[in-house]
Amino acid sequence: MSKKRLLTGLQTTGTLHIGNYFGALKPFADIYRDYDSHLMVADLHSLTTVRDGGVLRQNILDVVKDYVAVGVNPQEAIIFKQSDVPEHTELAWMFECLVTVPFLMQAHAYKDKTAKGIEATAGLFNYPMLMAADILLYDAEVVPVGEDQRQHIEYAREAANKFNLAYGETFTAPQEMILKGVGVVPGTDGQKMSKSYKNTIPLFGTREEIQKAVMSIVTDSSGDRPENVYAIHTLLKSEAELAPLYEEHKGKYKNLKDALIEDIDAFISPMRDTRAAISDSDVKAILEDGAMRARERASKKMTEVRQKVGISI
Ligand code: ADP
Ligand code: TRP
Repeated sequence: MSKKRLLTGLQTTGTLHIGNYFGALKPFADIYRDYDSHLMVADLHSLTTVRDGGVLRQNILDVVKDYVAVGVNPQEAIIFKQSDVPEHTELAWMFECLVTVPFLMQAHAYKDKTAKGIEATAGLFNYPMLMAADILLYDAEVVPVGEDQRQHIEYAREAANKFNLAYGETFTAPQEMILKGVGVVPGTDGQKMSKSYKNTIPLFGTREEIQKAVMSIVTDSSGDRPENVYAIHTLLKSEAELAPLYEEHKGKYKNLKDALIEDIDAFISPMRDTRAAISDSDVKAILEDGAMRARERASKKMTEVRQKVGISI
């Protein structure tokens, strides 16, 4: 049986932390081989928020390195950049001519972003139709996304529907796949680890950075076990493995933090080394190869679409 088609869009989220890893990257790296997987760097979508060319260029390189370093093999997935396949914007335009302004106005992401002060550009408003094009162009059936993107997949289904109604059966209805990670990873202060709270342990951090972050973990002085230390430790070792360690060092928070530093460093160092070994030109080669493979699929689909809408004469 052939594998189902999967596509996901990668937005750059800045320097990754271990919360991102256990909540998003690892669950993705664990499943992508079960599908005919497409990983698309959503660089055109990024233009809705990034206005600095140098920053965008760096973000593109970084996000590809991050995914390859955590174990996504470019031979086993098509890793490509949205802007390398012009069919995405062409198809987005066609969907924009089918859906209405009131429909797009209901998008939560648009409302949230403009409420946060992001300028209400036409690009931000049409964002869901470009995303629909990303997905439908490849007949993707499965779309791994975070909970916040669920509505965008509904929008993609609606775009497929409208097109199919107008021009005949052409697009497959995609299904969202909400990845189940380990749940919420706590930060050094016990709240959800998040770059906005400055309570992170960096995923590709140096030993010194890991040390600094672990030493800053907030512990209360009562009790035998520093809960915030233990909560992070359980991501790396089983409770059975941790029990004798925490028993032996009962009440000795410094020793337990030292043990956690060792364990985080042992876990991170292979990924850190892999990432450091990926050069910018490696990324360019990965993206060039991916673009070739993606274009082949996209252009085939668009030939059919252009015929149906009547612009191929
Ligand atoms: P941040 O909160 O640091 O800004 P993002 O919102 O950019 O992180 O999240 C990127 C991805 O990482 C999302 O899929 C999100 O669910 C996951 N993620 C972020 N923080 C955590 C966390 N503390 N625990 C589990 N998953 C997380
Ligand atoms: N909007 C998605 C996000 O912010 C990124 C994205 C763009 C995407 N195109 C996509 C996700 C296509 C899945 C499929 O995370």
